[in-house]
Amino acid sequence: MQNTSSMTTAAPTSLDDNSVNNMLLHDSANIEELFRQLSSIAANYLTNIHEHPTSLKEVPPISLSLPENGPGAAEATQLFLQQIKPLLLAASGPRYFGFVTGGGTPAAIAGDWLTAVFDQNTQYTHGKGDASAAVEQQTIQMLLDLFGLPQHFNGGFVTGATLSNFTSLAVARQWIGHQYQKDIAREGLQLPVKVYAAVPHSSSLKALAMLGIGSSQVQLVPTLPDREAIDMNALESLLTSAPEEPFILISSGGTVNTVDYDDLAAIVRLKEKYRFWWHIDAAFGGFAALSPQYRHLLEGWQGADSITVDCHKWLNVPYDSALYFTRKEHALLQTQTFQNSNAPYLGDPMENFSYGNFGPENSRRFRALPVWFTLMAYGKQGYQQIVETNIAQARQLGKALVASGCYKLLAPVRLNVVCFTTSEEKGRNEKLKQILEKLYAGGKVFVTPTVYKGTPGLRAALVNWRTTEKDIQIAVDELVRACS
Ligand SMILES: Cc1ncc(COP(=O)(O)O)c(C=O)c1O
Repeated sequence: MQNTSSMTTAAPTSLDDNSVNNMLLHDSANIEELFRQLSSIAANYLTNIHEHPTSLKEVPPISLSLPENGPGAAEATQLFLQQIKPLLLAASGPRYFGFVTGGGTPAAIAGDWLTAVFDQNTQYTHGKGDASAAVEQQTIQMLLDLFGLPQHFNGGFVTGATLSNFTSLAVARQWIGHQYQKDIAREGLQLPVKVYAAVPHSSSLKALAMLGIGSSQVQLVPTLPDREAIDMNALESLLTSAPEEPFILISSGGTVNTVDYDDLAAIVRLKEKYRFWWHIDAAFGGFAALSPQYRHLLEGWQGADSITVDCHKWLNVPYDSALYFTRKEHALLQTQTFQNSNAPYLGDPMENFSYGNFGPENSRRFRALPVWFTLMAYGKQGYQQIVETNIAQARQLGKALVASGCYKLLAPVRLNVVCFTTSEEKGRNEKLKQILEKLYAGGKVFVTPTVYKGTPGLRAALVNWRTTEKDIQIAVDELVRACS
């Protein structure tokens, strides 16, 4: 049992203490009241989030200046309510279908709050203090279980799928160097790195740019007709020109426009013939694994060298949270890539496991906690239900848009994204602009513009536990109204 009396005496509560700013002492002494106030603001917002606008009519100029003497947290809260809150959107609300934006479950939000309160620097699994890194590893185990992936993967949290793609491709780069007996992390990139992909997400290209490989170095492989999936025959004929040359293959476990999947089982077979690092960007498409009805889309994904999954998408954890899975057999390459060398006070990176030597960040927040909270709170069944409900809703939305006569689908609704455009081809660009203007002026539904195989359109991504059938009906009404 811990001695709670010694814990309470440590808190500074006296205004006589000259070493601490008075306002800090005041806020510290009144922290319970501050939290009560914030909790009421937060609960009120979340309870009524369906009425909060999904877009702003206009963004006014923001003028906030740094105070000489701070007025304290209560006053800062008032300023937030007056000046900032009205400018925020219901991005985690039930009709925000832009990008791929999850909702934030109550338990995940609770975990996120406590992450700030306990404020750990999550690095070492043993020997250096707190156990948050060990909890991170336990949470990774639970996620492997959730996704039905085998134990041959390590994993860790990063800020988003962009950083997960970056982390995975950084290790891939080190692997390429290893094939030529080069340690790229130490010696620099002295050789061209061959990369193939069909429809990589822009964030993978950004990662290649950051890694010095170069975003334009990707050789784009043709897709199957009317698909965003790799044409495997076309890939093989590209490979026959240099069958011995090691390369990186970036494949899609759900493209952002139409949630198309590369033939992952065929890529497993390709692995038997060629030497390559296989990365799968399954930022949100990986969640198909949670449903017996859709998990076939990911058949073979356990054969990948690295996988990206985003938690602030379909896991409904607040920003910023994503994870990478990398094969345990590549742990040494990963440590070579990210080791925080020349820092004797941090110890030998090869001896003590530290996330600081295993990913791009050194100091890191306890990002696993919100994920741990929501997994413990809702379990496998809870998540299967979210995924299956959103997929059914996307189909319903797609059907209703087509039935309205105003819209046609640009691709079948394969999972949870509806990619559509105006039925009328003439004046389409102008019409889509008008539709978005009307939609955003209404502030009830948010979708984002896109271009699919050269045709401009719109896309609605459904990944939010809050979305109900009524929300789908409102979305259909708003989209039809905006089109007329
Ligand atoms: C397939 C895919 N990969 C990567 C990303 C990038 O995700 P983030 O914005 O979390 O970095 C997205 C975002 O929508 C995505 O859909």
